[in-house]
Amino acid sequence: MAIKRFGVSIDEEVLSTLDRYVRENNFSNRSQAIRSLVEQYIVENKWQKNEIVAGAIVILYDHHKSDIIIRLNEIQHDYHEMILSTQHFHLDHDTCLEIIAVKGRAKLLQELADLILSRKGIIHGKLVMSKAE
Ligand code: NI
Repeated sequence: MAIKRFGVSIDEEVLSTLDRYVRENNFSNRSQAIRSLVEQYIVENKWQKNEIVAGAIVILYDHHKSDIIIRLNEIQHDYHEMILSTQHFHLDHDTCLEIIAVKGRAKLLQELADLILSRKGIIHGKLVMSKAE
């Protein structure tokens, strides 16, 4: 993609906020930070407009708790068309970390994430929203 340059007029306070954002997030320059913010906006917009998006559902759970393994398996089969892959890590004797890579209509992915994250036995979970293209 061609790189275009443009001048930006911005007041000092906003500029110092941008520079702080650059430092705190270890961007190498302002351009990189602005690109990242615009990408973030694009991703949020795609999710709001129910477009085809991608992401990951990250969950931490105790596999002994209730019927969580069976329920997680059933839910993933119900939504198999939008699950790209599931990675399971046995962190210790009790705790499992699972990363479920997903792609599909934003609303359906949100629905799937809500179903999984609200399961009894989930210690921590998060839907990471990204885009498919
Ligand atoms: Ni495990």
